[in-house]
Amino acid sequence: MGNVKITKYICSECGHITTTKTGKCPSCNSWGTFTALDEPKTENNPKNLNLPNVKIISSLDVKPPERIITGIDELDRVLGGGLVPGSVVLIGGQPGIGKSTLLLQAAGSVARKLNFPVLYISGEESDAQVALRASRIKTASEKLYLYSGSNLEDALKNLESNKFSFIVLDSVQAMTTGSDSGWPGTVTQVRAVAQRVVDCAREHNIPAVMIGHITKDGKIAGPMMLEHMVDTVLNFSGEGYSSYRMLRAVKNRYGSTEELGIFEMCGDGLKPVEDKSGLYWNRDDVSVSGVAMTIALEGNTPLAAEIQTLAARTIFPYPRRTSRGIELNRFQLLTAVIDRRCSIATNNHDLYINVAGGLSLQDPSADLPACAAIASALKNIPLQGGTCWLGEVGLAGEIRPVTRIDLRLKEAARLGFHTAVVSSKEQVKFNGIKIVRVSHIDRALSGLITQSYSN
Ligand code: TYD
Ligand code: MG
Repeated sequence: MGNVKITKYICSECGHITTTKTGKCPSCNSWGTFTALDEPKTENNPKNLNLPNVKIISSLDVKPPERIITGIDELDRVLGGGLVPGSVVLIGGQPGIGKSTLLLQAAGSVARKLNFPVLYISGEESDAQVALRASRIKTASEKLYLYSGSNLEDALKNLESNKFSFIVLDSVQAMTTGSDSGWPGTVTQVRAVAQRVVDCAREHNIPAVMIGHITKDGKIAGPMMLEHMVDTVLNFSGEGYSSYRMLRAVKNRYGSTEELGIFEMCGDGLKPVEDKSGLYWNRDDVSVSGVAMTIALEGNTPLAAEIQTLAARTIFPYPRRTSRGIELNRFQLLTAVIDRRCSIATNNHDLYINVAGGLSLQDPSADLPACAAIASALKNIPLQGGTCWLGEVGLAGEIRPVTRIDLRLKEAARLGFHTAVVSSKEQVKFNGIKIVRVSHIDRALSGLITQSYSN
């Protein structure tokens, strides 16, 4: 088996690779964007009957990977239990969201708590800027090393003389590598830098985390294959006005993509948010009409959500419907269900619906609490306190079961709800809370509204 050199060409716009240099890229239709890609190709003979390159899967010795626990619990949980040596994580997010802060905290934590040497490569900030941030978040340590500059090869040379246990690259778009003197951030450079980091992590059997910039439409900037090259892709996000930050795995070869990590950006770095439900719910048990509680699910994380509706007499022939946190079409549909199936007139009122705290509810389990809130607002009668509502509502007014009711009820009980209104088809058994099973929306609402009214 010899090394046969085949010249490949890469489009600098979209990263499309071809073996024939054409004027126009067949993938993104840009003109004159192909440049030669200097990459040796190993010829493989698929007809080789000795099968020299393949293994029988069952003969492989597999153990669950040993992990490096960073000590930043929310990050470890989203990663599936910590960093896996030899694996590469790519973390993307809006500028200023806190990627560098999170990774510097993680790097410092590994260096301090595990006493492992960690290399933080910063292509974006100077020594002084990183040092200032490290002192602000109190994460500096004897074992935390910094390389600031954009030459990846210079940075990685340190791995030959010192055994680092973890490397952070901030960011993949700020570095250059190889003989190609392209600008940092071009498709060719981003691809080469990422490949070099992947090879380096595998060769030294250490975990590496690369920070990635995102484009205006929320994708990680660079070639499309960037996300395929790494083992885990994390997304760090947050609403512009809020200090809360969400960390989710988009892809994870070493864990699930269901976990959600929530941090708060404080004056001295990112702090984990332990009581996630408390974020969107202020726990005031005031009896106000138009307010219904539910337990929404973000991945596998249950979050208490408060749906608020306001009904105001309209002066318009077409009453207004305004929604935030629940899709407008769904709100209109649920309003029609209330009108038709519960015989509560809706067309004399403007209706406004809002999910407190800026949460957005896509999960159909929000149908029942939304209906309860709408009916309560229209009747101007508060719902019974301490009750959460969990159900999907169909056009016939039937109430359907929701996913992971067990998780939601457990969280409801933990938060002190005493009653949960659920679908009559729900099979779950749960002792911590009174479960009211209802089959139809008019039954669910007539009973509870009258009950709270008579209280
Ligand atoms: P940064 O980690 O630089 O974001 P990114 O790398 O994603 O671009 O964080 C930037 C913002 O975070 C910055 O506007 C200031 C704020 N911040 C705090 O509020 N507290 C802190 O302790 C730190 C380090 C930053
Ligand atoms: Mg940064």
